[in-house]
Amino acid sequence: MSDRIKRRHFIAQAGGIGIGLLAAPSVSAQSMSRVLGANDRIRLGIVGAGGRGRSLMGSFKKFPQAEFVAVCDVYEPYQGLALKLSAAGAKATYDYRELLNDKNIDAIVNATPDHWHSQILIDAVQAGKDVYTEKPFSLTIEQGEKMVKAVRATKQIVQVGMQRRSSEAVRSAKKLVDDGVLGEVVMARAQWFWNRKPMPRTATLQGNLDWDRFQGPVKQRRALDAVRFMNWRNFWDYSGGHMTDQGTHLMDVIQWFCNDGNPPQAALSHGEIYVHIGAEVPDTFSAIFEYPRFLATWTLCYGNSYEDSWKIFLQGKQATMVIDDDGYRVFPEPWKRPDIPPKAMHEYKGGIPTEPHVLNFLECIRSRQEPNAPVEVGHKAVSAPHLANLAFHQKRRVALGTDGALTKA
Ligand SMILES: NC(=O)c1ccc[n+]([C@@H]2O[C@H](COP(=O)([O-])OP(=O)(O)OC[C@H]3O[C@@H](n4cnc5c(N)ncnc54)[C@H](O)[C@@H]3O)[C@@H](O)[C@H]2O)c1
Repeated sequence: MSDRIKRRHFIAQAGGIGIGLLAAPSVSAQSMSRVLGANDRIRLGIVGAGGRGRSLMGSFKKFPQAEFVAVCDVYEPYQGLALKLSAAGAKATYDYRELLNDKNIDAIVNATPDHWHSQILIDAVQAGKDVYTEKPFSLTIEQGEKMVKAVRATKQIVQVGMQRRSSEAVRSAKKLVDDGVLGEVVMARAQWFWNRKPMPRTATLQGNLDWDRFQGPVKQRRALDAVRFMNWRNFWDYSGGHMTDQGTHLMDVIQWFCNDGNPPQAALSHGEIYVHIGAEVPDTFSAIFEYPRFLATWTLCYGNSYEDSWKIFLQGKQATMVIDDDGYRVFPEPWKRPDIPPKAMHEYKGGIPTEPHVLNFLECIRSRQEPNAPVEVGHKAVSAPHLANLAFHQKRRVALGTDGALTKA
């Protein structure tokens, strides 16, 4: 807890503003802003002000108690864009450690590429900052284990950017599964279908890029490469590819609903590059996961958008649940004819906004309670896709030990 927050936390309690009130999920942004005065603002620094970072700034800015007072990005044009979303007088830097050393900053929002998630998170919590850290949690399972330990060695609040954990649609879907509406779930399927453009073979920078800082922890140093900078998800040095990028969201829901949040015992995977020629990571793949009581598959195709975007199917002996950006539907068994689907017995219309997840983080900064997507959730959620990547690289089935660590088998 930063000294500023600690002090205010004490004042809030002494002044009769109960922690329970501030922590209650029903507290709206407006009611919180009425309770908190201008001096009670939560002062934030953004690290990684690219597409997601600036979108998150927009989400945080919907809550008057949050303000961005510092921007860190290794690409100067994005610093400028993020400053426009920040408080007057906000500062910009290429070095995130300047934000960590700034006593006026309470929390960091980290939306850098995946190869930076570990170092920035560990440095930030050790510097006494609370952190909203984007998914996928880590670049490897081993890295994730170290990150969880480092966070738990402190008292900092860390929310992993897996917004389904705070979404009304997904939380109410979970309640139905917990109530046994699907019966025994035997098959879970996750999919993500987009029709993407080929990866550009050239790219032009619009301003200064600190390429050395971008590369950061990457061992094999390369000459400045704007294509890699703009398309880092396509290269193993910076990312677990689309497998972890999207898979962490979807496998989390599957194992949260059907396996007490725990990762699979083993995975198999195969992938190909059909769209992003010149990339390293597959843009078309299928992975199979062995959970103790059901089988799960995770399929991504960026060359075709049939049923556009993501869907999760949970197939139980009594009913099937389909979850996507429109909400969820539950269809009773049996499905007699493919062209005449049974009438949905449960339905929810609503998407997956980021704002409830951001609000949950802001509330937990005050209450010091555990947020909806703590580090253990982030770590376990990405373990399944990490396992599938290992299976892809090693061209064989890869298993986890009962303790969740990789086995030598
Ligand atoms: N939760 C979600 O739904 C969601 C959606 C999109 C992206 N993301 C995650 O957000 C992260 C960023 O994705 P993006 O699409 O915004 O990528 P991006 O390339 O648009 O942005 C990344 C930014 O990080 C900056 N950066 C790189 N190294 C840095 C460093 N050491 N210090 C400061 N800045 C640094 C880059 O210059 C760039 O501006 C990824 O981890 C991604 O998985 C999450």
